[in-house]
Amino acid sequence: MQKVTLKKAVFPVAGLGTRFLPATKAQPKEMLPVVDKPLIQYAVEEAYAAGIRHMIFVTGRNKRAIEDHFDTAYELETELEAAGKQKLLELVRSMNPGDMDFSYVRQPRSLGLGHAVLCAEHLVGNEPFAVLLADDLMVGSPPVLAQMAARFAELQQSVLAVQEVPAEHTRRYGIVAGESVSPQLIKVRAMVEKPAPEVAPSRMGVAGRYILTPAVFRHIRSQPTGVGGEIQLTDGIAGLMAEEGVYAYQYEGKRYDCGSKEGFLEATVELALQHPEVGEHFRHYLKNLQVL
Ligand code: G1P
Repeated sequence: MQKVTLKKAVFPVAGLGTRFLPATKAQPKEMLPVVDKPLIQYAVEEAYAAGIRHMIFVTGRNKRAIEDHFDTAYELETELEAAGKQKLLELVRSMNPGDMDFSYVRQPRSLGLGHAVLCAEHLVGNEPFAVLLADDLMVGSPPVLAQMAARFAELQQSVLAVQEVPAEHTRRYGIVAGESVSPQLIKVRAMVEKPAPEVAPSRMGVAGRYILTPAVFRHIRSQPTGVGGEIQLTDGIAGLMAEEGVYAYQYEGKRYDCGSKEGFLEATVELALQHPEVGEHFRHYLKNLQVL
């Protein structure tokens, strides 16, 4: 069998970001910056590092800033060039090195993550693809999606990023259970969206990174409406398991839930401490900030 490589990534970005109001009233939550980069750019860079060059955004109303962010900023570039600000010009241009394709499709109504992924079906076609939820900022070396792509290259079957979550948090995640096939890999036998701790099949929670085979589209379509009255990606993947292998991969790295204020603040502090430009100053500042 010929091995297929991963070329496309889907970024569902149509969500309203109600957990971050008022900041997200007029701007997409994916454009909130952690230190100096919007969340969506971290996710696009992660996909790029995994070898993906076609980025597909499932957007909604109020999300134009995302399209503009990855487009050529003609006026800005002309002004920076005229002012001789070469470094800033390179920074602006580096975001789209010219070897990436960007596609945008609208999700007309908030019908759930599974529905968002279905909106991208005609752009993905009959090939495997990644799904990245930009709210989940993942830090890993190699980047988490690249770790998963390496597993996919061997398995040629769907791979989900998982981490162990506290029992009281199972309601926040898709939860998987199955048998361990190697130290970091579980063959998934059960998958449930946001179960209560008493009925959760395990404590392995799915983080917002998926590599899926195209058969998942058919399974998403055939699922009835799930938790929260939404078309759930989790239910589609659970259906896929009857037909193909699905693996859960315990990634190496850290996930920040930037859809919550706490997670966003943690990411900001930790990434600021590592930042080449402001890290040292920020460390010094925190040391002297006698708040505790
Ligand atoms: C979504 C998925 C859930 C997954 C989570 C990861 O939920 O439905 O299965 O565990 O992302 O962040 P959401 O956080 O969008 O409610």
